[in-house]
Amino acid sequence: MAGRGVPGRVGEELAGTVPRGYRRVGDGTHPPLDSPAYRSTRLRAPTRPLVMLPHGLTELTGPLLAGHELVGQFDADLTRQHGGEPLGERLVVHGRVLDGDGHPVPDTLVEVWQANAAGRYRHGGDRHPAPLDPNFTGLGRCLTGADGSYRFVTIKPGAYPWRNHDNAWRPAHIHFSLFGRAFVQRLVTQMYFPGDPLFAHDPIFGAVPAAARTRLVAAFDLAATVEGWALGYRFDIVLRGRGSTPLEPEHGP
Ligand SMILES: [Fe+2]
Repeated sequence: MAGRGVPGRVGEELAGTVPRGYRRVGDGTHPPLDSPAYRSTRLRAPTRPLVMLPHGLTELTGPLLAGHELVGQFDADLTRQHGGEPLGERLVVHGRVLDGDGHPVPDTLVEVWQANAAGRYRHGGDRHPAPLDPNFTGLGRCLTGADGSYRFVTIKPGAYPWRNHDNAWRPAHIHFSLFGRAFVQRLVTQMYFPGDPLFAHDPIFGAVPAAARTRLVAAFDLAATVEGWALGYRFDIVLRGRGSTPLEPEHGP
């Protein structure tokens, strides 16, 4: 069936191609769609069994992210996107994107978004009465290199309240998004910082199966620390398999 109706050489090359299926791996890594303690999942979690739609030629031949030129010089340095430097603890956050076999995934768009050092997002929906930082937007992006590596310079985000329950605070975190080989292949997760006392009180972190939670916590990386300037953290992202990074169906707060 695949390849039907595709004219010319591309159609000939793809004739008989059976698109590889993509499915959510139920290996105890990813959070359930409905996590009662994470209240808003009750509203958006499906109430009926999922219907898996087979991927077809659209995913194989559809538009891809086109080109390094779309990523600007300062997109990966969140401390240099304004006239001055943002307040906060300066960080280098780096790592590699790997497939389930441990091979690097190059040329993947990695995007991050985060709160400022006071725990406030530059977003109209953020009502947390903490100050905005005129020198911090909190958005970054870069492409992975040939070895799957990425690197951001940023500041440590603050914890923030989120009204899920009494006295609910999110542990400091950075949101990550990765684009795959097609626009329908987008993966979203969150990176945390080691030793955060809020882990035990956070239903979003707690929705991830216990054995997989440590994969969401970056490692302090002295080798990536820049002397006299910034602390370093390492966060590798594994896309599939037993060691895969827990991923979200939608990003949370
Ligand atoms: Fe957040």
